[in-house]
Amino acid sequence: MKVKGLVAVVTGGASGLGEATAVMLAQLGATVVIADRNREKGQKLADEIGTKACFIETDVTSEHSVTSMLDQVSEQFGSIHVLVNCAGIAIGEKVIGRDNIHQYESFQNVMKVNVMGTFNMIRLAAERMERNDVDEQGERGLIINTSSIAAFDGQIGQAAYSASKGAVAAMTLPLARELARHGIRVMSIAPGLFETPMSEKIPESAREAVGKQTPFPKRLGKPSEFAQLVVSIVENTMLNGEVIRLDGAIRMQPK
Ligand SMILES: NC(=O)c1ccc[n+]([C@@H]2O[C@H](COP(=O)([O-])OP(=O)(O)OC[C@H]3O[C@@H](n4cnc5c(N)ncnc54)[C@H](O)[C@@H]3O)[C@@H](O)[C@H]2O)c1
Repeated sequence: MKVKGLVAVVTGGASGLGEATAVMLAQLGATVVIADRNREKGQKLADEIGTKACFIETDVTSEHSVTSMLDQVSEQFGSIHVLVNCAGIAIGEKVIGRDNIHQYESFQNVMKVNVMGTFNMIRLAAERMERNDVDEQGERGLIINTSSIAAFDGQIGQAAYSASKGAVAAMTLPLARELARHGIRVMSIAPGLFETPMSEKIPESAREAVGKQTPFPKRLGKPSEFAQLVVSIVENTMLNGEVIRLDGAIRMQPK
């Protein structure tokens, strides 16, 4: 696919990795829909990007909210070619903490946003993509999910987050296999630690340590590097059904 002229929906597009992706796709000539539950940040970003972007308040976990967003996209832009699922939340919680055991509710919440929300977007967007005409490569659409290296080397306190990102990684191949007959590719990116509002919640000393432990480059990832990989995936039709680690070769330690 060529980025220019595509219609792309970026969930979690108001912040961090999604924000950088929305900015880069728009710079390269795509029309970008920022689908996020943060109205203030999402609208501000859409205004900054200009005519190539719009914000639609969306809760990825809600069928009604996602359907209404996709209806608006169809009405305004005709079709949707690319879905980038960046909406997500993270928690750190031990099973046996100092004062409490891991709350059941917080586990469910992480699964709800990261797994059910991602899947909800995929199923409802794939149905729209399936209606697209094929391009010269036979493609109708592309879905890119955000997993995490926590899916593979989860640390202490990451049971919920790792389980959710493992689920995102695990659904990539079966979805790619199923949607292949419709000309829709499915890929996932598993980032290491990136400089975003989400990772800012981690203490500075811990972030520095991750940078030092990274074989090369010895630093955290930049959101623009995530966006760059999204663009490469869009442009390279042979990439399908795979989870790509984007992490400077780090393997996270237990803590
Ligand atoms: N930053 C990292 O180091 C890192 C590493 C690995 C994976 N990830 C994953 O990348 C994705 C993006 O993370 P980020 O660092 O940019 O985080 P972020 O907190 O900066 O942005 C996440 C965005 O998702 C939105 N969001 C949350 N729940 C939503 C919902 N129900 N509906 C719609 N929007 C919702 C938030 O409003 C926010 O704008 C997440 O899935 C995260 O788990 C991040």
